[in-house]
Amino acid sequence: MAFDDLYQEIILDHYRNPQNFGEVTHGCTIVEEDNPVCGDQIKLMVVVDDQGVLQEIKFKGSGCAISMASASMMTEEVKGKSIQEIKTICQDIIGAMRGEKDPEVLDNYGDLVALKGVIQFPARVKCATLAWHALEDAIREEEKKRQSG
Ligand code: FES
Repeated sequence: MAFDDLYQEIILDHYRNPQNFGEVTHGCTIVEEDNPVCGDQIKLMVVVDDQGVLQEIKFKGSGCAISMASASMMTEEVKGKSIQEIKTICQDIIGAMRGEKDPEVLDNYGDLVALKGVIQFPARVKCATLAWHALEDAIREEEKKRQSG
């Protein structure tokens, strides 16, 4: 199997069987993000505990295979991680997608390696980063809550 086929396989798999798809009903921070170019959107719900660890994350939305698969892979990667760790992961993924970081950094993040296949298509980079911008917003909200006590 060619490398690109493998990436496509991973993306389609997450698109068909999205992980952590659904809703958290209470005690969560909710953010929404959309891609103005296509109108696709994502709603992200996160629960961070007193130690700053992401205990729960779910998403809903409608969008292309890449945006939904990226969201699914993201939730798997960041669940159980601390806010600090998640910030680093966001920087790595978004940086790699924008060509600001070596794409090899994606090798550290499980299925997210499949996003390597997207970097060469600038129009699709926005699809891949949609969920990640939502996550950055959610983390920002959480930090604000913490600062205000
Ligand atoms: Fe809309 Fe991909 S085409 S997010």
